[in-house]
Amino acid sequence: ALSDEAKKVADAFEFGDEAVRKAVTEFIRQMDEGLKEDGKYLSQIPTYVTAVPNGTEKGLYMAVDLGGTNFRVCSILLHGNSTFSLTQSKVKIPHELMVAKTAKELFAFLAKQIEAFLKEHHSEHYHGHISRRTTSTLDEMDQNVKNGVREQEIFNLGFTFSFPIKQIGINRGTLLRWTKGFDIADAVGKDVCALLQNEIDLLNLPVKVAALVNDTVGTLMARSYTSPGKSGTFLGAIFGTGTNGAYVESLSKLTKLTDGSTETSDYDKSTGEMIVNTEWGNFDGASKVLPTTSYDIELDSETVNPGLQLFEKQVSGMFLGEILRKAILSLINNPAIPLFQDENSSTNDVHSTTTIYPDSPLFKQWGLDTSFLSLCASDESKGCKPIRQAMNKELGIHASSLEDAEAVKTIAMAIGRRAARLAAVPIGACIVATDKLKSSNETIDVGVDGSLVEFYPDFEILIREALRAIPEIGEAGEKRIRIGIAKDGSGVGAALIALVAGNVGTPKD
Ligand code: BG6
Ligand code: GLC
Repeated sequence: ALSDEAKKVADAFEFGDEAVRKAVTEFIRQMDEGLKEDGKYLSQIPTYVTAVPNGTEKGLYMAVDLGGTNFRVCSILLHGNSTFSLTQSKVKIPHELMVAKTAKELFAFLAKQIEAFLKEHHSEHYHGHISRRTTSTLDEMDQNVKNGVREQEIFNLGFTFSFPIKQIGINRGTLLRWTKGFDIADAVGKDVCALLQNEIDLLNLPVKVAALVNDTVGTLMARSYTSPGKSGTFLGAIFGTGTNGAYVESLSKLTKLTDGSTETSDYDKSTGEMIVNTEWGNFDGASKVLPTTSYDIELDSETVNPGLQLFEKQVSGMFLGEILRKAILSLINNPAIPLFQDENSSTNDVHSTTTIYPDSPLFKQWGLDTSFLSLCASDESKGCKPIRQAMNKELGIHASSLEDAEAVKTIAMAIGRRAARLAAVPIGACIVATDKLKSSNETIDVGVDGSLVEFYPDFEILIREALRAIPEIGEAGEKRIRIGIAKDGSGVGAALIALVAGNVGTPKD
């Protein structure tokens, strides 16, 4: 029966408790490797952020955010009582800029958005800034700080740039590689802060790129600001277009930074800790422990970065729809019981044969959006009406049967479940590797953001199920882990880092 064939496909996405445990062990090994040396599967990037906020921080900052569904420009007023007000504008990055010939095309676009934002929301700062702006380059601004010259009129901006970079200072970092479908060779190896600052300067905007921030680090900081516990937030994670996490690591373990083998600038050593950006999307590049199916292999080979970000390609929103599309295609082509050819179906209430329109998104790469998986997982109705309607509207499949819808749902849920269980691996591993559960009795705070964790039903519940399977965590440990959404957090987080970074100029109150 069709349901058996669908079950077979779904079973390929099984990622059981034993597999979770093995993956956690391997993740901890790869974390360690990355802390010692560059160029490993896990980049373990030092962020130069050595303390988390406690909610009392104040001031007006700007932030821009590149790397999620939207490019965002915001200004953030931190009130100093764990609350903030945020003004923001969002645009989708045009696809041609994601794969532009030169970095300049992309960064000029970003600077234009900043200009438009200032004009619209902060005209008081925009008008007249030209006469008051005293410096133009980042170096000159830094020099001014050293000389005690205050630049009252400039905004400190936190630049959330959610791609792997080699960070060499709080506002310096060169791009290691693109992820999530971006592909601009010209930008690789360049300092992305300088690229942005140059374009800002060409427009003569009163803005200084004061901090370079990964979205996971921003999420961690924002969460720590808004829900400060005794010891602050431990981990920030994104499950959105891509996936990644940053956590608080002890400096003594970050030996590639402390032994002088990495080029570094000064950082505050007093806390003995630093936030480390794991870049866990690239976990297990040799697929030692990842549950790789034929669909995963095919998907990877068709991306702009084959062989890289294999974990991300099984977990995050950009890819889950594509995995499902491939799995559905395999059922359509299955000669045993083909999907959507339901002459024998008893429950096809439309009494017409299912038709797949030739221009169905099912036949196009990236044709299926991950939101369709969320819809499948949230449809608890007996007749699967919402799924069948969506198959009609979004997939170009006319008059699908209940069996068809159920088959699609079975596979979709297996893919979503695998993603969530995989998501538990790095979260669990970071907690185990840092001995978090043993070193105190406190709750371990985890801030998360991204469309998948926000919209996929029960993503957190599925993560927790897998966390309990990790022996060092178990039922008791899992209860001590608090997971909370830090919605749109990275803007606030970037502002907070700009604050920490920015004894440059005076934040406007
Ligand atoms: C946003 C964060 O809310 O979530 C971004 O502010 C982050 O920094 C994004 O990149 C991730 O989610 P998505 O689904 O937009 O990729
Ligand atoms: C990708 C990026 C990473 C980012 C994540 C979530 O994995 O490489 O830097 O944090 O997506 O947006």
